[in-house]
Amino acid sequence: MKLPIKTQPLIYYSSRSENSHRFVTKLGLPATRLPMNAEDNTLIATQPYILLLPTYGGGGIKGAVPKPVIRFLNIAENRQFIRGVIAAGNTNFGTAFALAGNIIAEKCQVPYLYKFELLGTETDVRLVREGLERFWQHHTSTVL
Ligand SMILES: Cc1cc2nc3c(=O)[nH]c(=O)nc-3n(C[C@H](O)[C@H](O)[C@H](O)COP(=O)(O)O)c2cc1C
Repeated sequence: MKLPIKTQPLIYYSSRSENSHRFVTKLGLPATRLPMNAEDNTLIATQPYILLLPTYGGGGIKGAVPKPVIRFLNIAENRQFIRGVIAAGNTNFGTAFALAGNIIAEKCQVPYLYKFELLGTETDVRLVREGLERFWQHHTSTVL
């Protein structure tokens, strides 16, 4: 079933470890969290948004984008409204660090705005907050 709720300009996924959730909480910006279980109801974006997600490929491409995110992006409206991607990961995965961002950027043809590790540093939080503000100012005339 599709959820008829108004989504925010930042939509994110975070699993049970909640690193990305903690990062988004530190941003202090309005955000909508995707349901964790791929089988649960998913959201329909009601306005342009930036997608933030962690990487789960275990060092590869397969599984790098979490299933609930794939399910969300399989909906046409959600692909239509995505404007950019921010991805998280763990640098232990080397070249596969935050690879989910590369996959989404390529598939959805949107800019890969930022990558950060685990729950992010204070610098990551500041740069993303400032970056998002600039990004939306720049995009106000082109949205919708
Ligand atoms: C099974 C598993 C596979 C992972 N694979 C990758 C990976 O391929 N690349 C990467 O950068 N991080 C990888 N990570 C690290 C997660 O992206 C990182 O822990 C992230 O902060 C999890 O976010 P979340 O707690 O919001 O779900 C993996 C973590 C797990 C548990």
